[in-house]
Amino acid sequence: MNGQKVAPFPTALTSLLGREQDLPRLTALLHGPTRLLTLRGPGGIGKTALALEVARTVQATFELGAVLVELAALADPADVLPAVARTLRIPLHGRTATEAIASDLQDRSILLVLDNFEQVRSAALDVKQLLDATTRLKILVTSRVALHLHDEQEYPVEPLGLPTSPRKVLSSPAVQLLLDRIRHHDPAFVLTHVDERAALQVCQSLEGIPLAFFPQAGMTALGKAVLPRLAREGVPGADVLHGQPDAQIAGDDLRTMVAAQKDGGTPLFDDVV
Ligand SMILES: Nc1ncnc2c1ncn2[C@@H]1O[C@H](COP(=O)(O)OP(=O)(O)OP(=O)(O)O)[C@@H](O)[C@H]1O
Ligand SMILES: [Mg+2]
Repeated sequence: MNGQKVAPFPTALTSLLGREQDLPRLTALLHGPTRLLTLRGPGGIGKTALALEVARTVQATFELGAVLVELAALADPADVLPAVARTLRIPLHGRTATEAIASDLQDRSILLVLDNFEQVRSAALDVKQLLDATTRLKILVTSRVALHLHDEQEYPVEPLGLPTSPRKVLSSPAVQLLLDRIRHHDPAFVLTHVDERAALQVCQSLEGIPLAFFPQAGMTALGKAVLPRLAREGVPGADVLHGQPDAQIAGDDLRTMVAAQKDGGTPLFDDVV
């Protein structure tokens, strides 16, 4: 890369909801001595979305900026460091990837975002080798499992917050994401007071897992897990969706589910004063 700053991270297409506490904690870690920071959590919890936002936030403080290395398509852990070198446009010229990257970077600072590390988890020792061979390179990893390295700072990514009282329904990140998704299909949609309980029940059923709110991103498995329960509870929208083998919750369907709950559903805050 010969001292070239990498292209800046593109602006996010959608805004990140409910990570107001995570962002400052993560940027503080990267601005401190931490060199290996792992965002750990189950599929769809929002690791990549959060990592990209963190990288956007801190990239200007790294001499060479931040660069995303997508590992999802790699099958062989031995390909991880060569993929890093390729992304940084550093030719190997017969050297190992570690040697080539270390010699090109020298002591300049850069943030690498390694996305989907669980895919190649046995490359953890290669990551350690790269950190040992460089001085000011930092790595932000997203992974469903930790790398289990000595100096790794793990950061568990939690589901989006659900409301803790009836007054906090609208301000809760999960309900905000639900509304955001519904408004992608129906920009004029307004959540009335009557709808709030239904919206909350949908969010609770989806357990605050961001991916569950998106129809295009592998909703099927989660839908199969969640919709039978909603259907048993008599949510008509869920019943319809549950009956379809490849059911996906689209914005319209969520809207239907919210509407369908207006006159029924289990009280959600019985035990909340
Ligand atoms: N806080 C958030 N606010 C709004 N949308 C979000 C948020 N977190 C995640 N999303 C959206 O939810 C979807 C799933 O998130 P993401 O891809 O980051 O999950 P992940 O944990 O990286 O999953 P995987 O383990 O499968 O890689 C994406 O469409 C993402 O844009
Ligand atoms: Mg991801």
